[in-house]
Amino acid sequence: MVQFPKTILPLLLCFLISLLFDLAFADPPYWKCSGNVSNYADNSTFQKNLRSLLISLPSNASVSKLYNTSTGNDPADRVYGLYMCLNYVTNETCRDCINTAQSAIVTLCPSSKEAVVWEEMCQLRYSDANFFGKLNVADNIPLDNKKNISDPEKFESVVNETLRGLAKQAAYNLSAKMYATRDVPFEDKVVYALVQCTTDLSGDDCGHCLQKAIKDVLREFYFSIGARLLSRSCYVRYELYAFYDGATEASISSNPNNNKGDGRGRKIWMITILTIVSACLAILVLGSCVCLAKRRNKMGNSENLGPNALLPEQSFKRRSPKAQEYPYISLASIHAATNKFSDSNKLGEGGFGPVYKGILSDGKEVAIKRLSSCSEQGAEEFTNEVLLILKLQHKNLVRLLGFCVDGEEKLLVYEYMPNSSLDVILFDSKKRAQLDWSRRLNIISGIARGILYLHEDSRLRIIHRDLKASNVLLDNDMNPKISDFGMARIFSGSEGQANTAIIVGTYGYMAPEYAMEGIYSVKSDVYGFGVLLLEIITGRRNAGFHRIKRVPSLVVSAWQVWNEGKGLELLDPLLLDSCDPDEFLRYLHIGLLCVQEDAQDRPTMSSVVVMLRSETVTLNQPEKPALSMGRFTDHNVEATDNNSINGLTVSGVMPR
Ligand SMILES: *[C@@H]1O[C@H](CO)[C@@H](O)[C@H](O)[C@H]1NC(C)=O
Ligand SMILES: *[C@@H]1O[C@H](CO)[C@@H](O)[C@H](O)[C@H]1NC(C)=O
Ligand SMILES: *[C@@H]1O[C@H](CO)[C@@H](O)[C@H](O)[C@H]1NC(C)=O
Ligand SMILES: *[C@@H]1O[C@H](CO)[C@@H](O)[C@H](O)[C@H]1NC(C)=O
Ligand SMILES: *[C@@H]1O[C@H](CO)[C@@H](O)[C@H](O)[C@H]1NC(C)=O
Ligand SMILES: *[C@@H]1O[C@H](CO)[C@@H](O)[C@H](O)[C@H]1NC(C)=O
Ligand SMILES: *[C@@H]1O[C@H](CO)[C@@H](O)[C@H](O)[C@H]1NC(C)=O
Ligand SMILES: *[C@@H]1O[C@H](CO)[C@@H](O)[C@H](O)[C@H]1NC(C)=O
Repeated sequence: MVQFPKTILPLLLCFLISLLFDLAFADPPYWKCSGNVSNYADNSTFQKNLRSLLISLPSNASVSKLYNTSTGNDPADRVYGLYMCLNYVTNETCRDCINTAQSAIVTLCPSSKEAVVWEEMCQLRYSDANFFGKLNVADNIPLDNKKNISDPEKFESVVNETLRGLAKQAAYNLSAKMYATRDVPFEDKVVYALVQCTTDLSGDDCGHCLQKAIKDVLREFYFSIGARLLSRSCYVRYELYAFYDGATEASISSNPNNNKGDGRGRKIWMITILTIVSACLAILVLGSCVCLAKRRNKMGNSENLGPNALLPEQSFKRRSPKAQEYPYISLASIHAATNKFSDSNKLGEGGFGPVYKGILSDGKEVAIKRLSSCSEQGAEEFTNEVLLILKLQHKNLVRLLGFCVDGEEKLLVYEYMPNSSLDVILFDSKKRAQLDWSRRLNIISGIARGILYLHEDSRLRIIHRDLKASNVLLDNDMNPKISDFGMARIFSGSEGQANTAIIVGTYGYMAPEYAMEGIYSVKSDVYGFGVLLLEIITGRRNAGFHRIKRVPSLVVSAWQVWNEGKGLELLDPLLLDSCDPDEFLRYLHIGLLCVQEDAQDRPTMSSVVVMLRSETVTLNQPEKPALSMGRFTDHNVEATDNNSINGLTVSGVMPR
């Protein structure tokens, strides 16, 4: 976790600065300590009891969203503790949150006999008095989303009504378990609201707590597009975006294989969505790609190949003397793993064919890329990709576990990434809420380090040539892993630039010199990275501006607002409460440096990594980006469904 300090530091800074202006604007944690003289002494029994109580809580948090306990036999030194995680978070997140909170609370409230800390998704409270089951609405903290709504009266009444309905449900509907969420339309938007009480309360107390909370928050922040209220006994929040993960509970029970809790439930839900989307995509692809049908027929025949199935493997070995060391997986095992490539196993459509989820005989979950025979990727590219990736080892590159060649079938077996690809989350207005600013910075720096490894740190010099959001996969912790090396090119020695007659890549991410003239170099990847960076911080597709015709691409808009000094207009509204504007502008600046028209002007990946890492590095003024690319993006994106799981990869022959 090299990037840990990198992301924490700006947050801390942001926190300290905002503390100077207004405590309520600070990022979590928020806290209240007993402002009383009754402090505990160093090395006292109370302190020991408190420590052991706090240390025990995270382990409970991995099984339960709310827990209360006490330590100490002597009533004089007894400590009572209670934590609550917001109901929608996963067990793992709850545990991490409580872990953070329990170490924060002793730092924030040293020697207090009573204290409470609120983190983003949980709260933790302890006291020397037994407070279990007792309502406490003192010192409620209202917090606003710093953006104002244009029609506050109307908005307030919708919010008031929604929250009051939720409060009733949480307090008096036993099956709600003191937690309720709802989304209601407001004008052309949707209001998402959540209420929750600590379940040690009675229903009436929960209702009182929420009613007071709603009154407090609306009194203070009726004009804001979102707000929350922190209380010791309950929690209220509403926003114009889906900050909670509503599908979690529903999908857990529907999956018979699920035994890993809700973290997995959410993944399965995502996969379901993915599958539906990709099924639609598949119909599209099936309709348009005649040779796919042809291949299907051939595949039908090859299933009975029997002993012949080994032949292609041997021919592969001839191509590469060392191939026998490589993990070869038979077609039969892959058929078994993917249910014969059943549509329900399909994860999506990659640049060169569909990707399936599979479970190998040892139970390992894998993603299997099936290269369609009508793709550009022939035997050579296939061999290239296999040999290439097997040599690469970096935590920001996806790991190849094995491969298979059998007749027309060419298959690559990768580690499975439950969070799917970046575009799926980034370009979905609901899922994007999961990517707060620090996660996005983590993703950007991970991608940068992965590319740097390809360019400079691996033994080979590799140019990826098809960097884009759908080629960045996300692991459990939202760490990015670059995938799809099918078109990567290896450079030997100091050779750093090449020409090609075949342009492969994805319009919108392609550097102008490459799209127009077929010249590619490490700087073409820097261009692709720059586009990705801009997409990540703005939450918009470079090519996603096409909805209204003649609207410029993201790169062009970024350049325009930058020159008008209005860069913040591009800030993803979902980042309003997690992002420091200056830091956003700095990232925008770095993005613009990467997409400059002249490849010479673009920084190398190693200086990009330095710029990302250090706030003190001064950045050059960016020159004009490749404005002419607008032609390509406008033209091509029409074919790409905005919600598709992959920007279509185009490849074609262009005369130079
Ligand atoms: C401080 O504690 C004493 C008893 O320990 C209590 O009577 C008093 O009300 C407390 N003051 C505040 C401000 O909480
Ligand atoms: C508490 O104990 C530590 C060592 O166990 C000692 O260094 C420290 O001086 C003690 N503090 C007090 C106030 O007794
Ligand atoms: C909480 O954790 C403690 C120790 O870590 C354990 O003894 C206890 O059974 C746990 N309680 C629950 C409800 O999981
Ligand atoms: C937690 O609080 C409930 C409600 O007041 C109480 O009945 C229960 O005994 C408490 N649990 C522990 C472990 O103290
Ligand atoms: C939002 O509106 C409130 C009340 O009208 C005002 O005090 C505040 O300055 C406004 N904030 C912004 C960011 O416009
Ligand atoms: C919210 O609704 C309640 C009853 O439904 C009403 O008494 C209260 O005045 C409303 N509050 C605001 C701020 O509109
Ligand atoms: C209670 O909540 C459940 C779901 O949480 C809902 O299905 C049911 O209709 C609710 N009952 C009432 C009376 O609102
Ligand atoms: C996660 O929490 C739920 C209750 O919220 C519990 O039923 C489940 O067993 C937990 N999962 C794990 C892996 O502990």
